[in-house]
Amino acid sequence: MELYEAIRSAPTTRYFRPDPVEPALLHRVLDAARFAPSGGNRQPWRVIAVDDPGLRRSLRELYLPHWSAYLEHTGGAALLRAARDDPELGTHDPSLARRAGMVRGADHFARHLHEAPLILIVCVVMADLAVVDSGLDRPSISGGGSIYPFVQNVLLGLRNEGLGAAFFTLLNPAEEQVRELLGFPAELAMAGTIAAGHRTEAAWPKLSRRPVAEFASANRYGAPLADPGA
Ligand SMILES: Cc1cc2nc3c(=O)[nH]c(=O)nc-3n(C[C@H](O)[C@H](O)[C@H](O)COP(=O)(O)O)c2cc1C
Repeated sequence: MELYEAIRSAPTTRYFRPDPVEPALLHRVLDAARFAPSGGNRQPWRVIAVDDPGLRRSLRELYLPHWSAYLEHTGGAALLRAARDDPELGTHDPSLARRAGMVRGADHFARHLHEAPLILIVCVVMADLAVVDSGLDRPSISGGGSIYPFVQNVLLGLRNEGLGAAFFTLLNPAEEQVRELLGFPAELAMAGTIAAGHRTEAAWPKLSRRPVAEFASANRYGAPLADPGA
């Protein structure tokens, strides 16, 4: 597929058909994703591809409490209750309606995670991360730069193959239980999880994001970047 088209139409898929993901397809995607950049080219990614139904159920059980706590904490649970009690909610506020739809989808996904035919646990070799900002008085962000380009490559590869995917991090807090379940060693940490499979919906959405003018500057922060196409 055309690259820009793939980038603009790779949504978070939260509803999957039960058909398995072909092993050759998964291999092609990982074989392309490995060309991601990483600090010092250390390539710290390790992937555990889980298609075993019992393990997928166990992962769902580990994810659900963290999702539920997040949902409560961020007001999503209240929004879902309000939408259930008032079917008109969001009629006059499209952004509220969109948010309610997204939260409903994410909640369904959490309850049905085991129905995703393939769950990729993306781990990282901690010793191979280039953590160059640990001396600053804020949480480190640089280390993630050695793993998330790989994750995005996997997501785009799956999109290229016509498969839906959802990347999420709320299973990471259950790292110790996931480690025990899947047997990965102490030197690995969880970077995130990708649920993948064929989508129930045939159509691919066009994603909605803020325009370039809202996040890009020229030379000094806040100075507008030219848009020659405008
Ligand atoms: C770092 C990160 C963490 C995320 N964690 C979760 C999660 O725990 N559960 C979930 O359902 N979606 C999760 N998502 C998916 C986001 O909700 C999604 O990328 C965002 O809403 C945009 O969706 P769209 O690409 O379909 O427009 C996560 C995405 C990222 C990049």
